Amino acid sequence: MPFPQDRLRRLRATEGFRRMVRETRLSPDNLIAPFFVVEGRDERQPIGSMPGQWRLSVDHLIKDAGEVYALGVPAILLFGVPARKDETGSEAWTPDGIVPRAIRAVKDRVPDLVVITDLCVDEYTTHGHCGIVQDGRILNDETLECLQKMALSHARAGADMVAPSDMMDGRVAAIRRALDAEGFSQVPIMAYAAKFASCFYAPFREAAASSPQFGDRQSYQMDSANIREALREIELDIQEGADIVMVKPALPYLDVIHAARRAFDRPVAAYQVSGEYSMIKAAAQNGWLDERRAMLETLVSIRRAGADLILTYYAKEAARALHG
Ligand code: PBG
Repeated sequence: MPFPQDRLRRLRATEGFRRMVRETRLSPDNLIAPFFVVEGRDERQPIGSMPGQWRLSVDHLIKDAGEVYALGVPAILLFGVPARKDETGSEAWTPDGIVPRAIRAVKDRVPDLVVITDLCVDEYTTHGHCGIVQDGRILNDETLECLQKMALSHARAGADMVAPSDMMDGRVAAIRRALDAEGFSQVPIMAYAAKFASCFYAPFREAAASSPQFGDRQSYQMDSANIREALREIELDIQEGADIVMVKPALPYLDVIHAARRAFDRPVAAYQVSGEYSMIKAAAQNGWLDERRAMLETLVSIRRAGADLILTYYAKEAARALHG
């Protein structure tokens, strides 16, 4: 006979009580801020599909990176938007390419900020796929070599961590091998382990100009219906040497985050992707949602599901909100 003895509302009565019994914490420490970096100087190009986000040239990137670090966010994730694309994405591993230059500049100006780089050729290829293409197929093993070269060019420039997002089989082992062979055994790998073929990446593809020019990504990214397969993907990436495993997107896959948290004793990251961000933005711009509350509620939900780390375009705003 719980009621009237049990009254759960007692501990909801004041903010003091609520703070004391809050089960899930969200801190700037949990956040990773993604940035898009372009060639040139004084470039701050608004991304139409992602209001409040920009493609930045390196001079602006170092300012914004410094700001997020000052707000307590420990890490950024860099995406390169190169001026030149080709069939194999060779610009992705040139030593003085856009991302290596960005890494050097950020490490020079904000040395304690953890710089993570996205490893994938799709922003660098004319066809926009995450690998080498032959006769309309995306080749797996040939792509691994590109990823190895890309990882090395970033590590040589001073990247603190690399994050393969391509979903080729065997990439984590291949990247680990290449890094170790060149003296970068201390550079961790955050694997986009369970990355689903999602419509929620659409705003990002405008940001990075990386829409596939034919077909779609379903032959390498995961079917959204599959959770057992997601756990296999994560397990394999761990066996291959992933230090942090990621689930992506976040909100439509909270069950996958939760299952990963329970099954594996590794840091779990979740990516609140462009579409998740832009949905909230669009609703807020229409006056339909309170943006600040929607941002914090979704981020806390992702934490509650079990993510240690959240990659989010809201990193700066959320860190600011958390400081009160
Ligand atoms: C691939 C990559 C993508 C995202 C991160 N890395 C695009 C894709 O797979 O189509 C999406 C991130 C987002 O939507 O915010 N380089």
